[in-house]
Amino acid sequence: MAVAIGSTTPGMALPGMDAELFARWAQLLEQRTGVVVAPARMAFLAGAVRSRMRETGFADYEAYFRLVSAGAAGAVEWATLVDRLTVHETRFFRHPPSLDLIARRWLPERIAAGQERLHAWSVGCASGEEAWSLAMVIDHALATLGHGPTYGITASDVSHAALAAARSAQYPAARLAEIPLEYRSVYAEMMNGDAFAPIERLRRRVGFARVNLLHAAAAPLKRLDLIYCQNVLIYFARERRRELLDGLAGLLEPGGLLVLGAGEVTSFSHPALTRVAAPGTLAYLRNR
Ligand SMILES: C[S@@+](CC[C@H](N)C(=O)[O-])C[C@H]1O[C@@H](n2cnc3c(N)ncnc32)[C@H](O)[C@@H]1O
Repeated sequence: MAVAIGSTTPGMALPGMDAELFARWAQLLEQRTGVVVAPARMAFLAGAVRSRMRETGFADYEAYFRLVSAGAAGAVEWATLVDRLTVHETRFFRHPPSLDLIARRWLPERIAAGQERLHAWSVGCASGEEAWSLAMVIDHALATLGHGPTYGITASDVSHAALAAARSAQYPAARLAEIPLEYRSVYAEMMNGDAFAPIERLRRRVGFARVNLLHAAAAPLKRLDLIYCQNVLIYFARERRRELLDGLAGLLEPGGLLVLGAGEVTSFSHPALTRVAAPGTLAYLRNR
């Protein structure tokens, strides 16, 4: 929605962004979210800032930067802008080897160990597909194994707009094809001819929250059994990835599983974690 806080006519042409200005915006984004935008992607960042300036009636980059950098109005505007400055590409069952590892190896072991409750976290869930995929896989595995823990999933993102889409949990019918048939037939229900939603049983298991991964330690997310963090750290600086992974390791219960995107981190190790040997995955078990 357009907000009348600037001074220009929406739709008017704005000047280009120079390297110095780009560096200031990129630095603000990295400080606040960890996301790094390389100079090669200047057009993406500049386009996002300009489109938001047009919507809010700003013609002057400096004035818009000042607004976003400070004060309560700045915080409100940043909440909208950050959605434009981050990538939300996602899909259902995006990484089958990781989901298989959870369903076929880790969950049966947890059940055999007598686990009674299971709390999973989808970090950077974008519009929710990752969280719903996890819910389908966990629910199905528990049903197949006959008994097991009750489970809950917290799905979080830094973007309010992405979370609103995730909470609404409605997806175009064409995207049903992303969900393997065995899950689709049980866990998806048509809303009308054009959209489907995860069934009520799954919707009761997934809660959404705005959590900035940089401040995850301050969030009420502790003693987790499963942390699923794919295609988020890839946008962060290498040193920052390691620091955040150390933090995530500390949030895991003994026996808990940390699942990352294959190739997203290289040569990471942590004294409390053991790398899981499963082809095509990057996952770590928290030692007992
Ligand atoms: C490319 S999507 C990945 C979605 C999903 N995890 C997947 O693999 O399909 C990256 C998501 O990370 C979110 N994100 C970026 N920085 C974040 C931060 N500091 N804290 C939480 N989420 C963040 C973005 O808003 C975006 O929705």
